[in-house]
Amino acid sequence: MHDRVSGRPTGHAALAFFEDQHPPAGDFLADVLDGFSRSPKQLAPVYFYDAAGSAIFDEITHLPEYYVTRTELSILDRIGPELATLAGPGAVVIEPGSGSSVKVRKLLDALPDPAAYVGLDISGDHLKAACLEIAGAYPDMQVGAVCADFTQGLELAHLPLDDGKRVIFFPGSTVGNFEPDGARRLLAGFRRAMRPGDAVLIGADRVKDPARLVAAYDDALGVTARFNLNLIHRINRELDGSIDPDGLSHRAVWNTDRARIEMHLVAERAQAFEISGRPFHLHVGESIHTENSHKFTQESFTSLAESVGFTVRSSWSDDAELFSLHWLEPTAKA
Ligand code: AVI
Repeated sequence: MHDRVSGRPTGHAALAFFEDQHPPAGDFLADVLDGFSRSPKQLAPVYFYDAAGSAIFDEITHLPEYYVTRTELSILDRIGPELATLAGPGAVVIEPGSGSSVKVRKLLDALPDPAAYVGLDISGDHLKAACLEIAGAYPDMQVGAVCADFTQGLELAHLPLDDGKRVIFFPGSTVGNFEPDGARRLLAGFRRAMRPGDAVLIGADRVKDPARLVAAYDDALGVTARFNLNLIHRINRELDGSIDPDGLSHRAVWNTDRARIEMHLVAERAQAFEISGRPFHLHVGESIHTENSHKFTQESFTSLAESVGFTVRSSWSDDAELFSLHWLEPTAKA
């Protein structure tokens, strides 16, 4: 059998270790009831990614308007030799939110003799499948998996890992989906798990022409609208909801003050509905705020990284400066 991406033989892949840190499952019902009780109403973007939502997100990554994924991939292709020098031989690649396997393979292929890959994710089944694929494609590398909530910090000290430089890989500009405090907590959690000499390779989308940003989150084919509305279908299906999705429209707006794209679902007409027996109401024009995607300048990203003890050693962008990748290292204590 051959691996579908690299064409390498897969053999009988096995994981070097699988550790279940038993992350508490998010309480979908409690979070939705809480979010609908607020003003303005809001839903947490983490709930976008059920099987249907993840499949729609994959469609988004191929849209002409959504420059994010292809730009990051092209930067990764270009900077491979520099990454090889920065990481050196025998690196241990750690991927919180494992699943972007095309991207991590570009990194692994660029590095000289990587010793190990460790995927971390809150969903154990998805994680195991993604890591087994990597193990099959890289038979000489140690591949492990940790089922954990990486937003609460990384517990790596006790793992049976090779001693090489650890490179935490966090692509996609997922950091932008956190509120500024949450992004700081996330990066501080990475920082605490690192030893001198380790590094983070992180993707961060850039502030740019608002029209381009809005188009990326409100595409002509309506795929992002479907992604947004999938949350409503999910509530109706899983939480016994009666929201009329046809009465809601997808809206993407650029918030200049907060340097973020916001996604909303806006009520086209008033509607009363229930979720698990609890009554709610939407008035005409009322919005449900479903996602923030923060964008960064070189300065704003550097100041975020420095605020939690990192030095930005290198940054790379495409010619049009749409997207950046940054190599962060722990700041040496004076
Ligand atoms: C996953 N995350 C980085 C995407 C983004 O661009 O903020 C999620 C997304 N939402 C709509 N389109 C893409």
